Amino acid sequence: MSDFKRYLITSALPYANGPVHIGHLAGVYVPADIYVRYLRHKGKDVVFIGGSDEHGVPITIKAQKEGVTPQDIVDRYHNIIKESFKEFGISFDIYSRTSSPTHKETSSAFFKKLYDEGKFIEKSSMQFYDSKAGQFLADRYIVGKCPRCGNERAYGDQCEACGSSLNATDLIDPVSAITGNKPELKETKHWYLPLDQYEGWLREWILEGHKEWRPNVYGQCKSWLDTGLQPRAVTRDLNWGVPVPVEGAEGKVLYVWFDAPIGYISATKDLTPDWEKYWKDPETRMIHFIGKDNIVFHCIVFPSMLKAEGSFILPDNVPSNEFLNLEGDKISTSRNWAVWLHEYLREFEGKQDVLRYVLTANAPETKDNDFTWKDFQTRNNSELVAIYGNFVNRAIVLTHKYFGGIVPECGELTDYDKETLNTIPEIIAQVEKNMEGFHFREALKECMNLARLGNKYLADTEPWKVAKTDLERVKTILNISLQIAANMTVLSDPFMPFSAEKLRGFLNIAPAKWDEMGASMIKAGHQLGEGGLLFEKIEDATIQTQIDKLQATKKANEIANATVAPAKPNISYDDFAKLDIRVGKIIEAEKVAKTKKLIKLTIDTGIDTRTVVSGIAEHFTPEQVIGRQVTILVNLEPKALKGIESQGMILMAENADGALQFVSPQSEVKPGSVVC
Ligand code: 2FM
Ligand code: ZN
Repeated sequence: MSDFKRYLITSALPYANGPVHIGHLAGVYVPADIYVRYLRHKGKDVVFIGGSDEHGVPITIKAQKEGVTPQDIVDRYHNIIKESFKEFGISFDIYSRTSSPTHKETSSAFFKKLYDEGKFIEKSSMQFYDSKAGQFLADRYIVGKCPRCGNERAYGDQCEACGSSLNATDLIDPVSAITGNKPELKETKHWYLPLDQYEGWLREWILEGHKEWRPNVYGQCKSWLDTGLQPRAVTRDLNWGVPVPVEGAEGKVLYVWFDAPIGYISATKDLTPDWEKYWKDPETRMIHFIGKDNIVFHCIVFPSMLKAEGSFILPDNVPSNEFLNLEGDKISTSRNWAVWLHEYLREFEGKQDVLRYVLTANAPETKDNDFTWKDFQTRNNSELVAIYGNFVNRAIVLTHKYFGGIVPECGELTDYDKETLNTIPEIIAQVEKNMEGFHFREALKECMNLARLGNKYLADTEPWKVAKTDLERVKTILNISLQIAANMTVLSDPFMPFSAEKLRGFLNIAPAKWDEMGASMIKAGHQLGEGGLLFEKIEDATIQTQIDKLQATKKANEIANATVAPAKPNISYDDFAKLDIRVGKIIEAEKVAKTKKLIKLTIDTGIDTRTVVSGIAEHFTPEQVIGRQVTILVNLEPKALKGIESQGMILMAENADGALQFVSPQSEVKPGSVVC
């Protein structure tokens, strides 16, 4: 571990315009929390910063849609998000927010310093303006066709389909997201950070100085730098945000991506009066945990701002994950394609660690990855329950059975015992090495290898059999097993803190530091606690409920997005009047033999009782339709279907997903009533 005096760990501030989902946890907050918990175990001076990003156009758009103020929106979601993180054990030292007075003061002062020192370019340009709404159309207020990939719904600052960062004026056929109007161009003044002036320094600092950054992060930086940097506007014509603190800037606020990262500084200020040592002492190691769509802002823009300001340290690493997909599809808030944390907490009470485990074991560290409910179940049942839970349960139960729950003495060691004990520090070293390199997925695998080691040791030594002949030997076997279990309370704690705490309760031991792990963590004579199940099996039905929920979402999206069939050419009233449509009642129904789709219906039309063959068998059983009132076209020419003469046609409504419904009167009417 490189020797830094202290650690400043930041995690991207999520927009407070909606709840958080598994993509947030997997991408940023679980890895950051694992690292922070590890550092704390190592006895490091560390602060872990989190908070809500409460400015920006997505928030004002949501407020406008709901007819409430942006402050209402951020108040609502800040609390929901904060609570979800707390429930998942994300151990922030502070969870702050960018609408706080400290943040306003800090970000204003930051801007003012750069302004006073002439670090900005002041420039007037023509920007899109919606005269009906009476406002400039910054960022997401303007939508149009992406010049790179052709996506019709690209925003003024970014295309979500291809990930390109855009300028509003790049969009093809732009329209206002507020009124749908074609915008006009109007002159306005803004301040720009001349990123081009920092290009040489950034090349040196990143491309030469930080070759150890993850390939995805380094690669994105290189591609930005190779394309060439342009001055970037750091102010906007909006009324929600931190007001630009200079004269002649009325109606303008700081660009959300200018103020948000300064939020890390404001939060540290709110956490401790001693904040400067975390931000200004080069012996502090600053690490930004972010998602891949934030790379440019944390590796290029924010460092350039910090460099321009001059008194702050720079990030030493920016571990960024790729995206997590859900059941093969991109997680999407607007399509409700997500596993929402607040819903998971309700539906999987007490199983926070299972999700932390699965999201880490399957973390999108090097490429986009997929979360599936089946994988979630398998990892829980075959890994957490069958390996980790099973091992500690057997060790504790057997100690209770043979020795009244008192840790037995370790006697003479066999070669196998020695080999097993020697493997413990090897595994710890592997976990440590992977933690230091931000390879949390691998670190977790190694951690589970310790549980695997214990499980295998018990299976190989079979103390339950040995007990019949040699209780002395059983003492040694269980002592070694309990040492492994005790080591798990520390080694697994960064990944699964709730279970580590539970296990400490089973073993009746206090929290220990990283360096206290080893072959004699738990002393002979120590009284164990009660024991219990560390993890529970997750049944198929529970998983099916989640899969069904997603299926229902998919269906709802298909219906919402389906286009309706185009209108047919007009007909005359006389043509319409030729149709004799009546209300009838189905009195008998039976499936037509050797067909999948056909049902033979006997219908009381009020005029007569007749047979109609209808293609509804894939949607209804005969029992379901008997007694129903339907609408029937009675003067359609009879037609033979599978040898049965069909005398009319039942009218059905076909939904976008292909489901059929009868077109029936709201309440029962006399059969034969005319539909007109
Ligand atoms: O992408 C996002 O959700 C941003 N709100 C992240 C901001 S990170 C930092 F700069 F505050
Ligand atoms: Zn695009």
